[in-house]
Amino acid sequence: MDALGIVVMAAGKGTRLKSSRPKVLHAVGGKLLLQHVIDAALQLVPASAMQVVIGHQADLVREAMANTGVHFVLQAQQLGTGHALQCVKQAYLAAGAIPPENLIVLSGDVPLIRPETIDRLWQTHTRESAAMTILTAVPENPSGYGRVLRKSPSSAEVRAIVEQKSLTPEQLAHPDQLREINSGIYAFRTETLFRSLDALTNTNSAGEFYLTDVAALLTEAGERVVAVAADSVDEVLGANTIAEMMHLDAALRRATADRLMAAGVTIFRPDTVVIDSTVAVGPDTVLEPYVQLLGNTRIGSHCRVRSYSTLENSTVGDGVLIRNGCILDSAEVAANAVLGPYAHLRPQSRIGEGAHVGNFVETKKAVLGAGSKANHLSYLGDAEIGAGVNIGAGVITCNYDGANKHVTRVGDRSFIGSDSTLVAPLSVEPDSYVAAGSCITENVPSGALALGRSRQVNKPGWAQRLKAKQKEAKA
Ligand code: UD1
Ligand code: CA
Repeated sequence: MDALGIVVMAAGKGTRLKSSRPKVLHAVGGKLLLQHVIDAALQLVPASAMQVVIGHQADLVREAMANTGVHFVLQAQQLGTGHALQCVKQAYLAAGAIPPENLIVLSGDVPLIRPETIDRLWQTHTRESAAMTILTAVPENPSGYGRVLRKSPSSAEVRAIVEQKSLTPEQLAHPDQLREINSGIYAFRTETLFRSLDALTNTNSAGEFYLTDVAALLTEAGERVVAVAADSVDEVLGANTIAEMMHLDAALRRATADRLMAAGVTIFRPDTVVIDSTVAVGPDTVLEPYVQLLGNTRIGSHCRVRSYSTLENSTVGDGVLIRNGCILDSAEVAANAVLGPYAHLRPQSRIGEGAHVGNFVETKKAVLGAGSKANHLSYLGDAEIGAGVNIGAGVITCNYDGANKHVTRVGDRSFIGSDSTLVAPLSVEPDSYVAAGSCITENVPSGALALGRSRQVNKPGWAQRLKAKQKEAKA
C-alpha cells in the first residue's frame, strides 16, 4: 500500500464567477488555477498518485490537464465537496484498487498553495497520528470561508468546521471570535475518511454534502482531528470571484517582480507591470512602467523595455532597446537590436543582431539580417531579408494573392527605396537598388537598379496658364 495519494477537487462550476468557463480553468499569474495546484502537488507525489475530481465541463478540464498525466475521477453531478470524495471512494471500489494509506485533499481553486506547506501539513498529520489534519489561516476578513472551531484556543485539536452559511446569528455577532478559516486543504487517514463519508447528510442551507462535516463526525467518534496554520495567509486564499482572482494575480505578479529585482532587473513602478511567473529577464535590464511580459518570454541582460510594450512567448538577446508601444508575439530578436516605437512583430519574426525595426513597422514570418534597417511605416510579411539592407519608409511586401502566401527575398546590402511595393514571389539579389515609389514584380539581378514606375513629366508654365484661364472664366 502506498503511504500517500493526492486528490484535487475541481468539479465545481464556480457560480460566483459568472463565467462560461469552469473556475479551475481561469488563470492567475498567467497560469490556470488547476495547473498551479497540480504543479505544487507534483512536487510531493508522482502524477500516478494523483486524482483530479472533475464534473462541470469535465471534458474541457480533462483536455486542458491531459499533459500532466494525472488520473481523473468523474463527479457527474456536483453535490458538494463531501460527495466529490465519495466519488473518489467509488472509483477505488469500482477499480478494485487498494487506496493509499493517507490522502491529501487540495482544492482546485486555492492556487497559491506551496509544496512546502503541503509537506508541512503531511508532516503534522503523521506526527500527530491524526485521522484528519486541516490547514488553516487567520486572514483579515474571514467572511465566506468555513470556520475552524478548536477544542480550546490553545489546543491543536478541532471540534468542528462551520460553514459561513451555517454560522448562527450569535456567532455572526462576534466575528472576532471565529477568525480561523478552513483552507479547503486537508490530510486524511483514508480508511477512516471513507468510513465517515457514508454518514454525511445534505441537510444544510446549500443542500450539499460538505466534506467539512467530516471533522465533527470524526471528533464525535473519538478520532483525532487537528489543525495546522499556514505560514502566510495569501497562499491559502480561495479564488471564488473575479475580484478574489485578481487579488491573487496581483500577489503572484508582485512576487515575480520581486524575484526579478532581486536578480538585478530594474523595474520602475513594479505595481504597474504584468509579468507571468514563467518569464526570465537578465540582470541590468530595465523595465519601464506598464510593460507586460507574458508566457515563455526570455529577455537578455542590459536591455531596456520602454512603457506600454507587450511581449508574449518572445526571445530577446542582450542589449536590445524596445521603445514604447511595441508588440512582440512569438518573435526572436538578436542582441543590440532596436525596436519601435510602435513596432509589431508577429509570429516567426526573426530580427538580426543590431537590426532596427522602427515606427509603425509590422513584420510577420520575416527574417531581418544583421544590421538591416526598416525604420518607418512598413509591412514585411513572408520576407527573407539579408544583412545590411535598408528598407525605405513605407515599403510593402505584397505576400498574399488572395489565395496563397508568397516569399520576398532581399539580398545582403540591397537598398529598397521608400514607398516601394515588392510583389511576391520575388527575389531582389544582393547589392542592388530599387528606386523609390517602384512597384517591383520581376526579380532584380545583383548590382542592378530597378525602376518600376512611369517616368516623370514636367510641363513648364502649366500652373500659370491654368490660373489665367480660371481668372478669365470668373470675369
Ligand atoms: C470550501 C469549504 C470551506 C473553505 C473553503 C476554502 C466546503 C463545504 N467548504 O468552501 O470550509 O473555507 O472551501 O477555500 O468544503 N468541488 C467539487 N465538487 C463539488 C463541489 C466543489 O469538486 O461538488 C470543488 C470546487 O471545484 C472547488 C473546491 O471543491 O475547487 C471547493 O468548492 P467551493 O464550492 O469553492 O467551496 P467553498 O464554498 O469555497
Ligand atoms: Ca472555493
